[in-house]
Amino acid sequence: MANLFAKKSLERILSESGETGEHTLKRTLGSTALLALGVGAIIGAGIFVRTAAAAGNHAGPGVMISYIIAGIGCAFAGLCYVEFASMIPVAGSAYTYSYATMGELIAWIIGWDLILEYALGAACVAIAWSEYLNKLCEHYFGFTIPYAFCHSPFQVDNITGVHGIINIPALFILGVLTLVLIRGTKESANLNGIIVLLKVIIVIIFIAAGWHFINPINHAIIVPPNTGESGVFGWSGVLRGAGIVFFAYVGFDAVSTAAQEAKNPQKGMPIGILGSLAFCTVLYILFSYVLTGIANYKDFSVTGPGHEAAVAYAITTYMKGYEWFAGLITIAILAGFSSVILVMLLGQSRVFFSMSKDGLLPKAFSEIHPKFRTPAKANAWLFFLVGIFAAFVPGDIVGDMTSIGTLFAFILVSIGVIIMRKTNPDTPRPFKTPLVPLVPILGVLVCGFMIFGLGKENWIRLIIWLLMGFVIYFGYSRRHSKLNKG
Ligand code: ALA
Repeated sequence: MANLFAKKSLERILSESGETGEHTLKRTLGSTALLALGVGAIIGAGIFVRTAAAAGNHAGPGVMISYIIAGIGCAFAGLCYVEFASMIPVAGSAYTYSYATMGELIAWIIGWDLILEYALGAACVAIAWSEYLNKLCEHYFGFTIPYAFCHSPFQVDNITGVHGIINIPALFILGVLTLVLIRGTKESANLNGIIVLLKVIIVIIFIAAGWHFINPINHAIIVPPNTGESGVFGWSGVLRGAGIVFFAYVGFDAVSTAAQEAKNPQKGMPIGILGSLAFCTVLYILFSYVLTGIANYKDFSVTGPGHEAAVAYAITTYMKGYEWFAGLITIAILAGFSSVILVMLLGQSRVFFSMSKDGLLPKAFSEIHPKFRTPAKANAWLFFLVGIFAAFVPGDIVGDMTSIGTLFAFILVSIGVIIMRKTNPDTPRPFKTPLVPLVPILGVLVCGFMIFGLGKENWIRLIIWLLMGFVIYFGYSRRHSKLNKG
């Protein structure tokens, strides 16, 4: 009888990561590359799409407060991540940490849950990419892609009543980036560095230029009164908004999935994870202040004119004289989204890599391509998985599932830090989470609140997803687990 709570010892994890030869990943990423990887994964659809969605449908200008709440939750969880990432610098992130602290079943749950974060995160951003591509076509070429071919079957055009069929641009960008990843991590990191710079510059220009167009009337009421329905404006709306914009922070932990490829993880992990988080928090709060000041939040509601590609909409509608910027910003946003998708796909394939090495997933997921030395097969499978969500599910749903899955992972990682301090008190910790157990407990509470705020539909989706995971674990993984086979 296999032991569901068998733990993988730290010694074993670390010695496996030290394996050399053609079956391991290369250590090529320095601190700057890791910081860029973090910012590359963080700034994306969250800020450019979900800020407006949260403001328009749930929080109004109070979305600024939503960003602060979500940032606080991430800071607590981030401090816990860094302790683990510098102590156990191997591919697989939260999955690997929980294997060492809470045993195989919980590790499986986290690994399965991380699919929501990375794979669905990539899908959500690919969908956002498709929205902005349409804006670009409209801006420069005067045409748009037919609604049916850039929306999911669950979406209907407010004006024409046309139904979506499949999101082809989203599939396209996923395909291109999968090929880039198969070519190699170093190359992907270089491309990422250039894009990150571009993306940060345009966010700063938007904040600086937009500041002069803020209309104080739009900020007259920061938290619009609740409509009577929980989560629709009022303070419950702000909390709901926090769960939604939490998506914008997703990704700082993706740095930890690349720990096995870091040249000096003890130094690079804290810089990569906490540095990128702090930097983006400041940008986000300023950005949401400007966006909800330029346009009225009602413009961004599901039926509003700025519902899709909100930033481009706000610029063309309210920032007279800056129409040229709308085109440029759209190009930069498209490039920026690509880097997020890249890191998400990278993170997911590395989690698969670790799970497969442990026998919990089929071997194909950890086979390394002989020439490129990347998990090429895992990347190809991932394309199918992510592609299904990107092509056929609406962006808001995929985004909420990403948020709830990630929040759940953060909670487990925070608990893991407390457990590990008890079980392995003497293992060297290059970075120690301050004030344990207070900081991890606060992490659990704030992330728990956000899960609560995301509402019943999303809780149900998370539960269904986890149940599917159990079926696979008991049907396949438990019997193939290397640890259980001894
Ligand atoms: N944080 C990433 C984004 O906002 C996932 O696109």
